[in-house]
Amino acid sequence: MRKTTFSVIKADVGGFPGHATVHPELIKTAEENLRGNDLLVDYHVTHCGDDLELLMTHHRGENSEEVHSLAWDTFKKATETAKKLGLYGAGQDMLSDAFSGNIRGMGPGVAEMEFTERKAEPVVAFLMDKTEPGAFNYPIFKIFADPFNTAGLVIDPSLHPGFVFEIWDIKESKSITMNSPEEMYDILALIGAKGRFVIKRVYPKEGKLPTDEPAAVVSTEKLYQIAGEYVGKDDPVALVRCQSGLPALGEVLEPFAHPFLVSGWMRGSHNGPIMPVSVEQARCTRFDGPPRVVALGFQVKDGGMGMPSDLFDDPAFDPVREESALVASYMRRHGPFEPHRLPLEDMEYTTLPKVMTKLKGRFKSVE
Ligand code: F6R
Ligand code: MG
Ligand code: MG
Repeated sequence: MRKTTFSVIKADVGGFPGHATVHPELIKTAEENLRGNDLLVDYHVTHCGDDLELLMTHHRGENSEEVHSLAWDTFKKATETAKKLGLYGAGQDMLSDAFSGNIRGMGPGVAEMEFTERKAEPVVAFLMDKTEPGAFNYPIFKIFADPFNTAGLVIDPSLHPGFVFEIWDIKESKSITMNSPEEMYDILALIGAKGRFVIKRVYPKEGKLPTDEPAAVVSTEKLYQIAGEYVGKDDPVALVRCQSGLPALGEVLEPFAHPFLVSGWMRGSHNGPIMPVSVEQARCTRFDGPPRVVALGFQVKDGGMGMPSDLFDDPAFDPVREESALVASYMRRHGPFEPHRLPLEDMEYTTLPKVMTKLKGRFKSVE
């Protein structure tokens, strides 16, 4: 059977207003550019905050030059629309002038997985804004390794062996593969440092599913490192397959019942709570946030994704949103103080060098 590829490619090509959300005209431009293209079996264009999100299914595998080029071309056209409308930061994430075969490293973020479709194939696309790839460490760990989150790890024989984690050291550009539950404490020792170690993929262990086809994948592009200067946050996306030997849909959504703290928010330089929201509510307002996460669920069939289900558009998540808003208020009261403001080395920009230059000569040695 031909394998199916699910690709999520996203970029901020202009905000409306400021960095709050995406103008409907950008979504229209992107849809027009993807419609009727025979490279794809199916597509869905949406947004989270100010990020334009292209969700595509096809049979061309990961890193397909044609699919990446189509996404690049779509972002270029959306940038033209953004310029015409005078949107904020038009073309912000388009860091290169010419496409060179693969969209990775050019600004946009990418999460792609190729797999053999099961009889029924539920897939969730998670889209985050105003945060960084390490924000997925906590929920992905909970989904695939925490028995208090995922009941199946304890009571479903097909999940009981656990999962394999591919973790990237994004500072040293290295990766390591680790087994859960055997190496759980070592895994946590790494991924708790979410600005450095990020979960890239999760694979099933020996059992009923192929061990070389991921159950989850996270985008790990670092805009800051690509551009060499601050150009906005590398707002991440992820794909997670569910059910029949993998965590159930409800186990995949469960970590988001806690508005955990992530780094990003205002000026990419603050810690704040994530808020799970519907696409409609994915508008970053308060202090340019708080950081948002959207979950779109699909039943993939014959390479097509069908229609999305907006999974956080549910009163069961109302109390989480309320708690997130309360935590946002609590964090905000710290103003410029850590740990609301990020430590110096993690801030996206700072005035400290200038302040230090100005004060040079006024510092006296202390005994
Ligand atoms: C955070 C973000 C915003 C901007 C802020 C300042 O990722 O995008 O919080 O950093 O609105 O934006 P500029 O510098 O464009 O005025
Ligand atoms: Mg932005
Ligand atoms: Mg964004």
